[in-house]
Amino acid sequence: MLTDYFADKSVLVTGHTGFKGSWLIAWLNQLGAKVTGVALDPPTTPSHFMAADMEDGIKDYRVDIRDREALSRVFLKTQPDFVFHLAAQALVKSSYEDPISTYETNVLGTLHVLEALRGLNRSCAAVIITSDKCYDNVEWVWGYRETDAMGGPDPYSASKGAAELVIRSHIKSYFPEGSKVRIASARAGNVIGGGDWAKDRIIPDCVKAWSENVSVQLRYPNSTRPWQHVLEPLSGYLNLATLLATNPDLHGEPFNFGPQAQQNHSVAELVQEMSRHWDQVSWNLLEQPDNTHHESGLLKLNCDKALHYLQWHAVMGFTDTVEMTAAWYRDFYHDPESIAVTTREQISRYMDIAREQGLPWAL
Ligand SMILES: NC(=O)c1ccc[n+]([C@@H]2O[C@H](COP(=O)([O-])OP(=O)(O)OC[C@H]3O[C@@H](n4cnc5c(N)ncnc54)[C@H](O)[C@@H]3O)[C@@H](O)[C@H]2O)c1
Repeated sequence: MLTDYFADKSVLVTGHTGFKGSWLIAWLNQLGAKVTGVALDPPTTPSHFMAADMEDGIKDYRVDIRDREALSRVFLKTQPDFVFHLAAQALVKSSYEDPISTYETNVLGTLHVLEALRGLNRSCAAVIITSDKCYDNVEWVWGYRETDAMGGPDPYSASKGAAELVIRSHIKSYFPEGSKVRIASARAGNVIGGGDWAKDRIIPDCVKAWSENVSVQLRYPNSTRPWQHVLEPLSGYLNLATLLATNPDLHGEPFNFGPQAQQNHSVAELVQEMSRHWDQVSWNLLEQPDNTHHESGLLKLNCDKALHYLQWHAVMGFTDTVEMTAAWYRDFYHDPESIAVTTREQISRYMDIAREQGLPWAL
């Protein structure tokens, strides 16, 4: 059970002010961990981090991961048992606008995290989060496996593929078999859930538009993605970290975390499903789609490796995923003061669903 591993443990999370990172620290707090966060300020206003009062009860460092020495100092001070590295420039469009800082943050920043781990002299299990976009996407109908080629037709995707190469090389070069620090990488994508207000992501676009009674504009209605609730990959990261701490064979291994194969749905289907939970909704197609940016049409992950080695699989279907997401935003727009409770309740509900399905990490 996750509490057995994380209660009273020192856990360092980079990117804790972001969408996924703030859900992760909420969950770690619920598991009784001693949480330290390293990030820049929340990337959006509003943000899940601020709305749910996440700064309470954690050590909160605002450090740029491009600053290697400052980052290493936090690692040495924290002496973490577990590390989750999520800090990144996470948006494809922003990566076209500023490729240099995207590569600096996503590639050099990851290298700095690896170097900070190298400076530790203690047992530590580290999960480094890249993306499903790290793969060379040839738009085929099969799910990508962890052994498939890295690639990336845009600066963000390439930075994630490059981060994977740096991780693999650093593990081979500096963290040999028997190393006290164990490292694995995690590749997930297209996460939805309450508290995301990032630019040019479809669910934030919907809730921003609909909460102001305006129509949402769909850019790529036919693109299909492995949509999953944010708690699904987070359960994978937590589970991977605990097994990495106990099983040396997982050191150096990458893992995909995605929904079950039949959960690939188009943007239009996602918006349609979301609209069932909102009173005033409308959408229209963007008349002139933005052709300056590459947008893949099809992207699937094969998650057999996580199932085999971690007994992990996603537990929620598409309709429940969208319902939980919509419920969070409805609560936020009706009563923002109560949103920390909603977050905690959704984490508990998610763990209950996983327990009912007999997943070992939840029992
Ligand atoms: N959200 C998704 O659908 C998705 C899909 C695939 C992969 N990911 C990956 O998951 C991770 C988290 O994504 P997210 O959606 O929560 O992103 P986000 O933009 O909401 O949060 C990014 C976090 O990184 C921090 N950060 C950015 N630049 C930094 C820097 N130079 N120094 C220190 N901190 C910095 C921000 O302050 C924030 O805390 C990222 O690595 C992202 O690439 C996300």
